[in-house]
Amino acid sequence: MKKVYLDNAATSFPKAPGVAQSISDFLLYNGANINRGTYDSSYSAAAVVYETRELLCALFKFNKPENVVFTRNVTESLNLAMKGLLKANDHVLVSALEHNAVLRPLSALAKKGVSYTIIPCDSEGGLEAEQIKDCIRPATKAVIMTHASNVSGTILPLQEVGAACKENGLVFIVDAAQTAGFLDLDFTALSADILAFTGHKSLLGPQGIGGLLLTDEMAERLDTFIEGGTGSASEEAAQPLFMPDKFESGTPNIPGIFGLNAALKYLEQTGIAGIRAEELYLTELFLSGISELPQVKIIGEKGSAKRTPLVSLDFRGHDNAEIAHRLAGDYGIMTRCGLHCAPWAHKTLGTFPQGTVRFSFSHFNTTEEIGYAVASVKKCLRG
Ligand SMILES: Cc1ncc(COP(=O)(O)O)c(C=O)c1O
Repeated sequence: MKKVYLDNAATSFPKAPGVAQSISDFLLYNGANINRGTYDSSYSAAAVVYETRELLCALFKFNKPENVVFTRNVTESLNLAMKGLLKANDHVLVSALEHNAVLRPLSALAKKGVSYTIIPCDSEGGLEAEQIKDCIRPATKAVIMTHASNVSGTILPLQEVGAACKENGLVFIVDAAQTAGFLDLDFTALSADILAFTGHKSLLGPQGIGGLLLTDEMAERLDTFIEGGTGSASEEAAQPLFMPDKFESGTPNIPGIFGLNAALKYLEQTGIAGIRAEELYLTELFLSGISELPQVKIIGEKGSAKRTPLVSLDFRGHDNAEIAHRLAGDYGIMTRCGLHCAPWAHKTLGTFPQGTVRFSFSHFNTTEEIGYAVASVKKCLRG
């Protein structure tokens, strides 16, 4: 059976050309730890790790490679940021589209006295940055916000949100899980204090590698998340406070960083503007094929102007899970159904508790695959 992968918002597939080779070459021909060995392979591995920080700086228009911290994924990055920053009696603002990567740490922090307000979004996922001012309290410390919803694909007005944060002295933490590698992100233009990313979605790298970018002020203010060996200042019992060692204890995912390095070079050479144009073309194609179907409700805005390359559908009068199951079993089309780890987003968008079937595209998909997906949905609906 034909296989069509349309679950790129969960994790991209295929990965960028060169990623698998880079990981394999590291494991076969280098394999050394970094910051610990006094031999060539350790130095050359460390050089690739540093170069990867520089590539991330170039991508996010950030100027401090040492303030790029590697983690396992954006979930770990957000935990590091929130738990490092927030103390009892602090208050934060989040959007009504947040992923559990924000909601669950917040719910854990709530037990320690941190409170939060959810800034409402409309039923298409739109948010007015103006609302922020009305939600601020004397104890408000930060705004934590996804750049785009992983359910509706709605892109939130983060530049305006960042400006409001700056105006009101709030820390701005950005969850760029769905936009890094898709949109042109500029750390300074967003007025971000912390930007968290994951390597395995539109950055086209492997799973198990992510990170965050921190201003100097945040690097100083945040408590450490885990402490341990860094290969530096080993005579000291306490964790070193210089960057990136303050937040990078233990042996990092070096194969993952090698994979991410190759992915970032691919993005740089190909250009994310061209990738984005291709992905939005495929998204439009899918939307226009599907929009004539009366049984299908398209979640979020109707067009692709403020959308990441994903489309969530609610099949009226049908069980969404059954449709996703049939698309996979009968037609080889891989989608993601359910709540997408974002229950609030579904409540906001009117798709709780049934969830949606999400189709998410990559520039490696073809127009022919999109046509096949639309035709397969139609066949599923015919029974
Ligand atoms: C908006 C958003 N935030 C956070 C995450 C969590 O990503 P990861 O599993 O890589 O930590 C996702 C993944 O689906 C996401 O879409």
